[in-house]
Amino acid sequence: MKMRLLIFPLLILIIPSIWESAPKYPKLKDNDSVGKILYQLGDDPGWYPVKTLKKSTAAIGKELFHTGFAKSTDGKKGRKQSKHFVCTSCHNIQREDSDLTVSDPQGRLDYTMKAGIPFLQGTTMYGAVSRRTFYNDDYSLKYGNLVDAARNDLRGAIQLCAVECAQGRQLKTWELESILKYLWTIDLKVKDLQLTNQEKVNLELQMNQNPEAAIATIQSRYMTGSPATFVKPENERKTYDRKMADINNGENIFLNSCMHCHENGRYSFFELDTSKVTMKYLQQKANKYTDHSIYQAVRYGIYSTSGRKSYMPQYPLEKMSEEQLLDLRGYIEYMADR
Ligand code: HEC
Ligand code: HEC
Repeated sequence: MKMRLLIFPLLILIIPSIWESAPKYPKLKDNDSVGKILYQLGDDPGWYPVKTLKKSTAAIGKELFHTGFAKSTDGKKGRKQSKHFVCTSCHNIQREDSDLTVSDPQGRLDYTMKAGIPFLQGTTMYGAVSRRTFYNDDYSLKYGNLVDAARNDLRGAIQLCAVECAQGRQLKTWELESILKYLWTIDLKVKDLQLTNQEKVNLELQMNQNPEAAIATIQSRYMTGSPATFVKPENERKTYDRKMADINNGENIFLNSCMHCHENGRYSFFELDTSKVTMKYLQQKANKYTDHSIYQAVRYGIYSTSGRKSYMPQYPLEKMSEEQLLDLRGYIEYMADR
């Protein structure tokens, strides 16, 4: 009895002192979510799931993202979000770049070929929750002030895309929150930051001593926004030189990008394949001022019309470089003349 009485006050003295000297942040683990760490360090983007709707779950979000509709937790089935697309028509859900600090389309093409995932106009949703700006740069030319609600707000970006990109209806709140929850499950991981052992130790120290600097360190290891530069195709068309084209690279672009949507009319009525007839057609149209020219389709995209809501997003330079477009043309010419 007496011992217990003694130990108790002792514990009260000891525990707080251990508590204070213990680092506030535990050691970094490979699979920790980057966005969650940033939030804990005080960088709250506004879409961290603190209070969430009971009706929304990551599983529902995943369904919606991949199939276009899902049942809510009370069993009601939602209306299909879009007749034309699902989110994965245009966005990967895996990492798609080997170097996360630059937007390098050739590096991405090589990476996606190896990973067996498509090469697309939309940026991957992997790590989207850790980005801070959306629809950057020239997207404001395309969507005007619609971008205002999306530029600094992931919820706004999802809604803008559901309506404008996917040409579908607005998401209901439980659907939007579910997609958000799903996106949190595909955040960047600590291992994606590719820190050396020493850098990791330094960062752990910094997190405890200077959280703001730690936030900056973490965010210097990946792009917090996906850049977008739109160009007109006239110059690319004029300067085409067959000798400069890398046919194999052009083939990779055709198979891994164009065919993702155009094979067997998957997301488009306009069917593409590797037959000589198709290639001859694309070859003939290339230099004409028509929607069926690859230059036009790639750099301007194909706009939806009242009779045909489906549209094709354009490729900014960061999603297809000038060299890549030249290679694509080279491949088409090669296949047409073989
Ligand atoms: C027809 C193609 C297409 C479809 C379908 C589509 N998107 Fe997008 N999305 C884009 C393009 C193009 C952008 C432009 C910005 C970018 O991703 O770099 C974009 C941007 C975004 C962004 C902002 C990304 C950033 O880093 O700037 C989010 C978030 C997003 N889409 C979510 C969705 C969700 C959720 C769905 C499904 C409901 C969806 N998108 C369907 C093409 C599409
Ligand atoms: C994200 C899906 C997607 C990708 C990737 C894509 N397209 Fe398209 N494309 C479409 C859609 C949707 C249309 C709209 C026409 C339709 O639905 O029939 C279209 C239209 C076109 C048209 C005009 C056809 C018409 O009837 O007006 C051409 C040409 C074209 N695409 C070429 C390409 C080439 C070349 C590539 C690869 C560099 C490519 N597309 C990549 C979805 C895509």
